[in-house]
Amino acid sequence: MSDKELIAAAREAAGASYSPYSRYPVGAALRFADGAIVTGTNVENASYGLALCAETVAVAKALADGRRGGLEAVAVTGPADRAGGAPITPCGRCRQVLNELAQLGDTDPLVLCVGAEEVRAMRLSALLPHAFGPASLG
Ligand code: THU
Repeated sequence: MSDKELIAAAREAAGASYSPYSRYPVGAALRFADGAIVTGTNVENASYGLALCAETVAVAKALADGRRGGLEAVAVTGPADRAGGAPITPCGRCRQVLNELAQLGDTDPLVLCVGAEEVRAMRLSALLPHAFGPASLG
């Protein structure tokens, strides 16, 4: 699947976003070395602080499917009509959650941060330098 198709998968996942409180639908799509795609979207709660981000949901799905590595690329999409359509970057917690799956398979995935017009691509290691992960526990 191309980067463009990965972004389309993230956008489609955002269609199922449960975000009645923020009205800020987010989609995430993970691409693996074997070609598999795992998607996620944000899931909010009446107890606001319990919201789950799209990236975290996608990583949890992948881990629950038995995946323990092979993470090559991640696409994240937000609503085009917020913040002037600027590319969305994963929150700090999601960077850490993505790092868990990346380090398990010793990859440094490309993170495609999608905006209304611009796609900003950066490695997870640039978004989360000096990361603490499974390898740190020795
Ligand atoms: N959100 C994500 O899904 N991913 C991020 O990386 C940033 C924020 C969600 C959480 C909440 O449901 C909404 O966006 C507004 O913060």
